[in-house]
Amino acid sequence: MKVLHIVGARPNFMKVAPVMNALNTRNHVVQTLVHTGQHYDANMSDVFFAQLGIPAPDVNLAVGSGTHAWQTAEIMTRFEPVLLDRQPDIVLVYGDVNSTVAAALVCAKLGVRIGHVEAGLRSFDRSMPEEINRLVTDQLADMLFTPSEDGDTNLQREGIPAGKIFRVGNVMIDSLVKLLPAARCQNRQGLPERYALVTLHRPGNVDDGIILKRILQSLLDVSRDLCVVFPAHPRTRQRIVDFGLHSDQLLIFDPQPYLEFLGMQSRATVVITDSGGIQEETTYLGIPCLTLRENTERPVTVSVGTNVLVGSDPDKLKSEFYRVLAGNAKKGNIPPLWDGQAGERIAAHLAG
Ligand code: UD1
Repeated sequence: MKVLHIVGARPNFMKVAPVMNALNTRNHVVQTLVHTGQHYDANMSDVFFAQLGIPAPDVNLAVGSGTHAWQTAEIMTRFEPVLLDRQPDIVLVYGDVNSTVAAALVCAKLGVRIGHVEAGLRSFDRSMPEEINRLVTDQLADMLFTPSEDGDTNLQREGIPAGKIFRVGNVMIDSLVKLLPAARCQNRQGLPERYALVTLHRPGNVDDGIILKRILQSLLDVSRDLCVVFPAHPRTRQRIVDFGLHSDQLLIFDPQPYLEFLGMQSRATVVITDSGGIQEETTYLGIPCLTLRENTERPVTVSVGTNVLVGSDPDKLKSEFYRVLAGNAKKGNIPPLWDGQAGERIAAHLAG
């Protein structure tokens, strides 16, 4: 059986690793890994391959950055001949990035089966590019691997037959479970005992100067009471420069490798983010998470976990922040099937 995996952007790498590892134990499976090159900086890509033990990609499409239409189209154009050449039995696509939807479209047109890992998540907010990618990919997929019950419900509401849906749990948590002991051993990199860890990269938060300025001002305000540590996505860093914004009191540095960032999360007093995966990781770790979004495609992190949506309201951010500092942070539990075995369950469905 020939399985081709397609990855392209940072959050894909933590998801592909456990699935490849589990499939490696099946002798009749031959795996091919294709990297689209959507993320290309060493610290957004290469370092994740090394730390997660992912083999070097068999093919790198080296697409790089561009507008959504350009990037998606370019991935499609470059992936099509690879797919025709490799003739896999199934292509696995991960999450909700542009690489995911681009590959799914190419497969669907060529009649190649698609497995979508992390299917069924919905923010119900079509202004997010990821929501478009999720909707399209799930309509095209033949096997839909969901992380939680809400995923199954969303898919059935959209007319996906129950027989195509496989609730397997959260693959991103597989990587976390495996590497947490090593992450906890990472050195503290000079960080204080208590700090707020911030990440920020969603277009809705960083591409508008007024919104980004308001968020930075809230972070500057809270930094008077707690050190703010901010490994910044290249997009965000560029925007801070473009808009001429002040961020002096914040500890801003480059995006971190997986182990270092996981270590930082596990020791944080509070995490402030607009990422999807970090909402899940903090829920697993039991660390308070304040999410700078009005909605989430991962509602289980709110209903079961430690996540609180604070949206774009600085007052809500501050009141939740001081609730954490006062020792009254929201408590949470680990959702069902977030147990480190999701990759194994996917492999069992695919290859017995
Ligand atoms: C993408 C995903 C998002 C995911 C995020 C994680 C989509 C639609 N979005 O957003 O869901 O949460 O990755 O990081 O696929 N850049 C670099 N170096 C890189 C990659 C990007 O400098 O290695 C800069 C470029 O200026 C680029 C910008 O970041 O234009 C945005 O990159 P892009 O891949 O388009 O989307 P992300 O914002 O990273």
